Amino acid sequence: MKKILIINGPNLNLLGVREKSVYGDRDFQSYFEELKTEYEDVDLSYFQSNHEGAIIDMLHEVGFSYDGIVLNAGAYTHTSVAIGDAIAAIETPVVEVHISNVHKRETFRHHSYLAKNCVGVICGFGLGSYRLGLQSFL
Ligand code: DQA
Repeated sequence: MKKILIINGPNLNLLGVREKSVYGDRDFQSYFEELKTEYEDVDLSYFQSNHEGAIIDMLHEVGFSYDGIVLNAGAYTHTSVAIGDAIAAIETPVVEVHISNVHKRETFRHHSYLAKNCVGVICGFGLGSYRLGLQSFL
């Protein structure tokens, strides 16, 4: 059974409440339960943190034993050399995902410090971006 971890970064604990016109009105927990039901042959787990160091610690913790990581690092995508370095340091492949199409938005969201160390990037499909990220490992 493949072991896949979904990581959500800062402010993504507020999905369903936060800027609904951009991120939709669904909370992540119910979406995650749906994914778990849909992919019952996958050992799927979920971690969310608003703290950069906690995200790095989690990447280190699973990054030598899991089969894939689906990472939405939120705004840290555009600022964090350290998360980019952590992705380069581990063995588990990482797919960068975003709910919104970051390229349609402010210029500062167009650059990712993570993308060059990721297998690929998926953005703009709403919560469906996570499903596509997950499927890429199967
Ligand atoms: C986001 C896009 C980021 O620019 C933003 O800071 C987020 C969410 C997305 O999923 O669309 O927090 O990663």
